[in-house]
Amino acid sequence: MRKFIVAGNWKMNTTVPQGVELAKAVVEKSQNLPANVELVVAPPFTHLVSVCQVLQGSKVALSAQNCADKEKGAFTGEVAAPMLVSAGCTYTILGHSERRQYYGETDAKLVEKVKLALASGLKVILCVGENLDEREAGRHFDVVTEQTRNVLYNFTAEEMASIVIAYEPVWAIGTGKTATAEQAEEIHACIRNVIEQKVGQTVAQDMTILYGGSCKPSNAKELFAQPDIDGGLIGGAALKAEDFIAIAESF
Ligand code: PGA
Repeated sequence: MRKFIVAGNWKMNTTVPQGVELAKAVVEKSQNLPANVELVVAPPFTHLVSVCQVLQGSKVALSAQNCADKEKGAFTGEVAAPMLVSAGCTYTILGHSERRQYYGETDAKLVEKVKLALASGLKVILCVGENLDEREAGRHFDVVTEQTRNVLYNFTAEEMASIVIAYEPVWAIGTGKTATAEQAEEIHACIRNVIEQKVGQTVAQDMTILYGGSCKPSNAKELFAQPDIDGGLIGGAALKAEDFIAIAESF
């Protein structure tokens, strides 16, 4: 069965006390959500242990925003997947476009990260998406197909059950410009088809594919009504508990 997920990517925002307050507000407002919608919050590394305590006993899962491509050792400044598990994470986001753009994250590096995350027992939210030039050149299907194949095709059907894809058109992230429901749906259907080609229809149909990029309470309903859009990866609107919950209530 396909799972519906609304995940909040806090990016590099909030101090620890602010993050704890935000998590408390999310937990408080999440009580009446339908059981088939999973909520996930992804605070900065420094907040994980404290936010984990707030989420205890709630239906909200904890995610990191990234993890290292090495298991442990002399890699100053990096945080390894087993450390995230020990801090209470069940997910990690990987391959966000900001990581690809500003920190040189390649598909090859992502394969290593996904391997280590899965081996540690984490579930992965893997981001893909084209930038504005690629969209304007009509290359969006090719770019997303290639990113999906380059990473996902290294994993078995069983491993894919622990991977969620997030389609985030770079031109829609933090810009207020959302992809239309039709634009998002056609890419989501394309991603599902790429997965089907490798591991068959059942696995592809069970895969959760999230939309991200200026998703907010006012557009979530239309996006989530599409047959291949199974929730959202939310940036800006996840920093306000009422907006984040309103998005989750859009199902
Ligand atoms: P946004 O960010 O909702 O602020 O556009 C989404 C994301 O980058 O995950």
